[in-house]
Amino acid sequence: MSLDKDNLHSEFHRMQDRRTKEILFQQRAHVFWFYGLSGSGKTTLATAIEQRLTYQGYKTKILDGDNIRGGLNKDLGFSDEDRLENIRRISEVAKLFYDAGVIVICSFITPKRELRQLAREVIGEQGCTPIFTRASFETCAERDVHGLYAKAKSGEIKNFTGHGSGFEEPFADDPDWIIPTDELSEYDAMTELLKRIHPVIEFESAITI
Ligand code: ADX
Repeated sequence: MSLDKDNLHSEFHRMQDRRTKEILFQQRAHVFWFYGLSGSGKTTLATAIEQRLTYQGYKTKILDGDNIRGGLNKDLGFSDEDRLENIRRISEVAKLFYDAGVIVICSFITPKRELRQLAREVIGEQGCTPIFTRASFETCAERDVHGLYAKAKSGEIKNFTGHGSGFEEPFADDPDWIIPTDELSEYDAMTELLKRIHPVIEFESAITI
């Protein structure tokens, strides 16, 4: 069913805007979008970062592939079309939290450059930083945290990313941060990330009242 846009009456002008929320929360809202192969460390780093930031008093929200696919996006599979719709919906949800002044930490494979671009377009380029958790297919398949690579190999899972469905690495001039999780320990990766995240979310450095 498609909606007639003439019958929609958006109320954004009467709502408290992001800047007001940022002043109240004393933080700069932002979306940190982790992407990479299954098993590359997205969720591990996202949850570690969220825990640190929360204990430091920041208002945060994690959006994670497996969780969202069990609820909001449970009608979607892993075809190119469904992956696009998955990322489109998640980008809209991330934007809602972002507009509420929250630091959003996303964790989705987001296998194509056009999907990452879509997320940045929906959220706004200033408000979204893509973070590539880089680990080779072989490393991720060896880790095989959830046994999915074995299932993809045996044919039990179709269209598995990196095995039947492609993954595009970022181009050298993309603004994406790259975290080589097969070279850094979890602790070092988290420390490096926090060093880069803090200047982005720090209230004083970003906003003068
Ligand atoms: S995305 O490609 O659309 O961004 P998303 O991050 O939401 O993927 O979901 C990936 C998760 O779904 C994986 O962590 C894995 O647990 C599960 N999964 C199930 N089937 C597949 C598949 N064919 N390819 C990739 N991940 C799959």
